[in-house]
Amino acid sequence: MTQAQPTLQVENLTKRFGGLTAVDQVSLHIHPGEVVGLLGDNGAGKSTLIKLISGVYRPDSGQFALNGREMSFGSPLEARRNGIETIYQDLALCENLDASANIFLGREPTKRRLGLFEQIDRAYMQREAATVLQQLDIRIPNLHYPIRQLSGGQRQAVAIARAVYWNAHLMIMDEPTAALGVPEQRKVLALVRTLCERGVPVILISHNMQDVFAVADRVIVMRRGRNVGERAILNTTTDELVRLMVGGDDEAGRR
Ligand SMILES: Nc1ncnc2c1ncn2[C@@H]1O[C@H](COP(=O)(O)OP(=O)(O)O)[C@@H](O)[C@H]1O
Ligand SMILES: [Mg+2]
Repeated sequence: MTQAQPTLQVENLTKRFGGLTAVDQVSLHIHPGEVVGLLGDNGAGKSTLIKLISGVYRPDSGQFALNGREMSFGSPLEARRNGIETIYQDLALCENLDASANIFLGREPTKRRLGLFEQIDRAYMQREAATVLQQLDIRIPNLHYPIRQLSGGQRQAVAIARAVYWNAHLMIMDEPTAALGVPEQRKVLALVRTLCERGVPVILISHNMQDVFAVADRVIVMRRGRNVGERAILNTTTDELVRLMVGGDDEAGRR
């Protein structure tokens, strides 16, 4: 059987903080157009794992490849330039900049004035931002507002627009709906579906099983830094996933 090359291949990634192994020999594959839920109790290592992939931390050992090419990022911006877009739980967009500046952050277009001075082309950024936001049916009250004045859902939407605009290879979302009201949660989940329809795989970290069952094709469960199980969403239940998350007496038998 031939299968498309995985978008992301993670092999034996490990990250320690002092004596604590936050991510322990994790391997996983993400395929084009797939939405994968990453589940695990608090402290299981989910955020640390995605920070290894998105250039926040360097792994102590192990490696990962994007579209077959081994990657090593010195910063989140470098990961973004290579097509990995991440919405972090605890690191947001640039609060003081507006939506267009966030969409173009680190990749600002320039134009020459009087054939001499290179200058950031803000008008172009505004036009392009307006177009991509409109394509995704994202309504921002005023494109000149700094991000901090937008709602949680609008911020997530701007980050998603950035991924679409730059043709990201992979979108990673760490608890994107945690702080949102119900209508905004729906919007973000709809945008996750839009991304996967466009072939962009999504890794979705969420505490909310309903969200995961609503959008994920597959789930990966972490416990104490390890990948303890993967299931197709159609072949599992909330009960089974919770058992994997918390472990238990029958742990040895289930692994
Ligand atoms: N920067 C850090 N320094 C030290 N310990 C950390 C750091 N980040 C996370 N940890 C620890 O690593 C473990 C995994 O954390 P984390 O990846 O945030 O888990 P999750 O996102 O699944 O809740 C936890 O025990 C946490 O306390
Ligand atoms: Mg976390």
